[in-house]
Parts: sequence; structure tokens; C-alpha cells
Amino acid sequence: MKVRQPVVQVLQGDHPDRHPIWFLRQAGRYLPEYQNVRKDVSFVELCQSPQLAAEVTLQPLRRFDLDAAIIFSDILIPALHLGQNLRFDKGHGPLLTPPVRSLTDVQRLKGSVAMLEAQYVGEAIALVRCKLDPSQVLFGFAGAPVTVASYMIEGGGSKHYVELNRSIASPQGFFQPLIEKLTEATIAYLKMQREAGADALVLFDTWAGQLSCESYREYALPSLEKIFAWARSENVPLVYYPGQGWQHMSTVLQGGPAGIALDWRFDWQQLAQLTQGAPHLAVQGNLNPMVLASRDKAFVVEQVQKVCTEASRAGFASRHIFNVGHGLTPYTYVEAVQWAIEAVRNWKS
Ligand code: CP3
Repeated sequence: MKVRQPVVQVLQGDHPDRHPIWFLRQAGRYLPEYQNVRKDVSFVELCQSPQLAAEVTLQPLRRFDLDAAIIFSDILIPALHLGQNLRFDKGHGPLLTPPVRSLTDVQRLKGSVAMLEAQYVGEAIALVRCKLDPSQVLFGFAGAPVTVASYMIEGGGSKHYVELNRSIASPQGFFQPLIEKLTEATIAYLKMQREAGADALVLFDTWAGQLSCESYREYALPSLEKIFAWARSENVPLVYYPGQGWQHMSTVLQGGPAGIALDWRFDWQQLAQLTQGAPHLAVQGNLNPMVLASRDKAFVVEQVQKVCTEASRAGFASRHIFNVGHGLTPYTYVEAVQWAIEAVRNWKS
């Protein structure tokens, strides 16, 4: 008999054996053992080494009693294989060169078959999967097309998204073909991860909130519908993270994701109203990650209990995967992560 996985149980609408918990960016700079691996290699080298990526993926699971791992990689790895150069310079975040600024640039990008070059992510997944307990879930992930497109067009992170907005408004219309190309690439990339052993998937749309409701309906929704439909056809549960794009919540639910990862700023009662027509939707979140920078145990426990209580009051008691409402930061206090896990394990509705 297949061992039951609480995270998958929640995502499939079943009552879970226990209240599952894991953390976005649970591997990373707040862990000294991560720093130790990272000091000898660049971030991209780390992502491209199956052994090292598997090692840092497993590091938080050696310390903590977690219900899931997420493969260590980055949402911008596909952009590298589509034909851009990718660098992470200290203090600058990601840099993608040359930026995509025209239809010719889009046509020059490679197609979804280039995702096969990222097979090292699949190798890392296979290495991690065989080290996990069968009840623990391994998440694969990708960036959603709009968010990846924003980095590809801007050439990195951005404050005002001037080029993204220009491309959406452009009469030459290269935004739509770019989103279409990225949709195919995203599906191929997620398929490769699924085949390598990922039990569930996350689709990060961190910058969805940069789009107007009209642009989101026109460009993002058809692309997300394709990705969600593919996930359903493969029977793989998928969690969608809309970042601070709350205005798009009811639109995206039309596409039917198995779960929503809730940003920490969002309100559970408001979510309950928006999701009335989605009785099986699972919700992951949404502790403010900065709470875990605190060294005050009582405060951490109180904040964790508050999230559990609010989720329960909003009707998500058995549909809740405890998590932070955005990734853990380098300021995270390692012991606070342990306190948060204990608080969830001890919480009773
Ligand atoms: O443990 C995990 O969650 C898996 C690893 C993971 C990383 N990035 C590692 C990483 C995941 C799931 C991501 C997703 C990602 N990457 C997103 C979506 C989620 C979110 O945070 O909104 C985005 C927008 C990116 C793009 C990205 N990658 C940025 C903007 C940066 C630089 C900012 C920063 O935090 O330094 C990265 C780099 C990055 N990705 C690091 C890590 C651990 C830091 C790299 C280092 O070690 O120097």
C-alpha cells in the first residue's frame, strides 16, 4: 500500500493524518551548513550540481520534523536554457542578459525542448526522493510565465517594471508570444521534474500583482489554465503562489489549482469569501517570515497559533498546510523554526 503523505492528502481534499508543515525557502542562507556548501561554489553552480543541490535540499530535513522538501533550484534556471545568461551578483539579485525586448528576441529563444538540458534538476530530485521518508513530499517547482517573463524582459529584478509595462502596451505585441513560449517551456520543465519523482509542484507567480486585472485575464489566465489542466491530467497536485496579486484571486481560481499559497499580508476571512465556490481548495501559509527572526519563543508560538486559528475560523482546518507567507529570509533564527514546528504539532482547533 502506498504510504499516505499529509501534504498530498490536504491537496487532494482528504482529511490529513496530521497538520502538515514546511517552509518556503527552507534551505538557504540562515543555515550554517548551507553557507558552508555555498562558500565554495556560485549559486548557479550549486543549482546545477545534482549532488550539491540534493545535499542543501535535505539540510533542513535533517534538523527539523517537516512534511515536505522543495528541490533546491531557482525559477530563473529555465531562462538560462532558453538562451539568456544568468548571474546572481552579490547585492544585485539576478541578472539576465541580454534582455528580451522584441519579437525577434522572443523568436531567438529556444523552445521547450531546451528544458531537457535542465535534467540535472531531475537528477537532484531523484537523489532527494530516495532519502526522504515515504510520508514526506518532495515539491518540484517553476516560476509562472508572467513572473519569469518579467525578469527576462527587465533583465533582472525591477522596481517600476517600466519595460514589462511597455511590452504589454506595445503595438508590436511580443508579450503574448513570450508568454506562450514560456507556458510550453514551463509544462516541459515541470513534466521532467514529475517524471524524476516530484510528488507535488509549486508555481511561483511572485510578480502577478504587477498586472492589471485586465492584463491578468488576457495573458496570465489562459497560460495558467493550460498549466493547471496539464497538472490535473498528470494527477499531480499543484500549489499556485500569486505573491501580492490578491486582486487576481477569484480569476485564478477559475483555472482550478489544487492549492493556493497565501502571502502573509492576506486576510483569511477575505480568502474565505473569495473561495466559496472552491470547497476543496487547499491553502498553504501564511506566517510572516520575519516572525522567525525573533528570539522570543512566546511571541513565535503566539503568532503561529494565530495563523492556525485564523485558518480554522475561515473554514480551512483540514485544508491547511502550515507555511510562511513568503520565503524564509537570511535573518531567520534557526531555533525559531523549531518552535514554530512544535507549535503546529501541539495546536488543537
Ligand atoms: O528552499 C527553497 O525554497 C528552494 C529554493 C528556492 C530558491 N529560489 C533559492 C534561492 C526557490 C523555491 C526559489 C524561487 C524563487 N527565486 C522565486 C519565487 C519565490 C519568491 O521568493 O517569491 C523568485 C522570485 C526567485 C528569484 C530570485 N532568486 C531572487 C530575486 C534572488 C535573489 C534575492 C535573494 O534572496 O538573494 C534569488 C536567489 C536565491 N534563490 C537564493 C536562494 C537560496 C539566494 C542565493 C544565494 O545563496 O546567494
